[in-house]
Amino acid sequence: MPLREFAAWTLAHGLQRRVLQRAAAKGDVMALLATDPAFYDDPYPSYERLRADGPVVRNGFVAGTVDHAVANAILRSDDFGTGAGQGELPAPMRRLHGLVRDPDTLSPVDPPSMLAVDPPVHTRYRRLVARAFTARKVGRMADRVQDVASRLLDDLEREPTFDLVGRYAAQLPVAVIADILGVPDAERSQVLGWGNHAATTLDPGLSWAEYRRAATALREMHAWFGHHLERLRRNPGDDLLSQVLQDPEAAELTEEELHAIGLLVLGAGFETTVNLIGNAVVLLDAHPDQLARLQADPDAWADAVEEVLRYDAPVQLTMRAAVRDTEVAGHRISAGEAVLVYLGGANRDPAAFADPGTFDVRRSNAADHIGFSAGVHFCIGASLARLEATVALRTLYERYPDLRVVGRPERRTTRVLRGWEYLPVSTVARVPA
Ligand code: HEM
Repeated sequence: MPLREFAAWTLAHGLQRRVLQRAAAKGDVMALLATDPAFYDDPYPSYERLRADGPVVRNGFVAGTVDHAVANAILRSDDFGTGAGQGELPAPMRRLHGLVRDPDTLSPVDPPSMLAVDPPVHTRYRRLVARAFTARKVGRMADRVQDVASRLLDDLEREPTFDLVGRYAAQLPVAVIADILGVPDAERSQVLGWGNHAATTLDPGLSWAEYRRAATALREMHAWFGHHLERLRRNPGDDLLSQVLQDPEAAELTEEELHAIGLLVLGAGFETTVNLIGNAVVLLDAHPDQLARLQADPDAWADAVEEVLRYDAPVQLTMRAAVRDTEVAGHRISAGEAVLVYLGGANRDPAAFADPGTFDVRRSNAADHIGFSAGVHFCIGASLARLEATVALRTLYERYPDLRVVGRPERRTTRVLRGWEYLPVSTVARVPA
């Protein structure tokens, strides 16, 4: 057994797994949400149990909130930081983990990932990437997104049933982000495979087997990305990564920082939007009246995407740790204390959304959801994700107005990311009995 890897797992996941399992056995809702498939398959009843206990709840290890106002306040407050991506661990364990972890397996929640650093370091990284994802630049990608969607559906023309996730929802975002980062077509499916394994590292308390699978994928992904960077340095294209590599500010970044930034944008670019598209198809299948409204008014697709982000958020959870003693909603949070911010729960807060358990594609304030987070870490790719999902769904239902879910869809087993692994659909109209 590779000792260093085992030590890194023990510190980052193993001990926490033990604590979570014990707390879950005693019925702690936050621990059950992190460990028990019966709870994270449908987390919404558990969010209501947490809500009934107040705007900030505690289980002796962490605090948590499903309150929209509190969640928003925490995410926007500079009294809170990312806790180096592991705010729930005691500081000495975090420091030790920083020493033993293998730099070749750094994950999206390990510093120096943008998700795990605070300003001013975060500001420097973010500035470099944000330039590429302004609403104007994303607007110029609309034709390309449409081409990809149409081409993927052309390829499915002769198949009356197919896996919507594997053949469409996952393929579209990976093709778009690969273009943006100059990744050749032939390498995309490999990148998708690594990304699926790496995505599990967002979850707390991984088993040793899960951790090892993710570490292997991350190691291979880092090695590939090193080659990719070399290739673009020697032969720059007109992609974002080539531009970043020529930026004088990027010249000051270490290789480790470049990997962290590049791989986060790449992974975040396809591991999330796939869930948004899949969740939307399942919701529309279960709510034919809502689909009919969209088919009668195709301009409403963009609003429908906001409602899917609210009703069934593709990223359910993030975490912040207080950097100083502070107070939210009348609750004192001590320096170092971690708070689980349940984005998916906050999006169902009746104080923010009337009748929050109703899926309504015309909800007037759906865009007040915090599915893309808020504050300095607000999703850089939000405009791109909105564009991709709107185009993907509109094009899908224009081509196949009778599309329906058939067979047995399978959920992804991830807890932070919520979506479908396998989603069989039929494009053929149901024959009336
Ligand atoms: C439906 C699709 C998406 C969802 C739901 C989503 C959600 C999120 C959330 C919740 C965060 C912040 C996490 C936190 O506060 O701790 C985030 C950050 C981020 N997202 Fe997205 N995302 C999506 C698509 C994308 C795409 C397409 C990209 C590609 C460009 C992207 C790139 C990023 C990056 C780079 C960050 C880190 C920002 C920072 O830390 O400053 N995301 N995303």
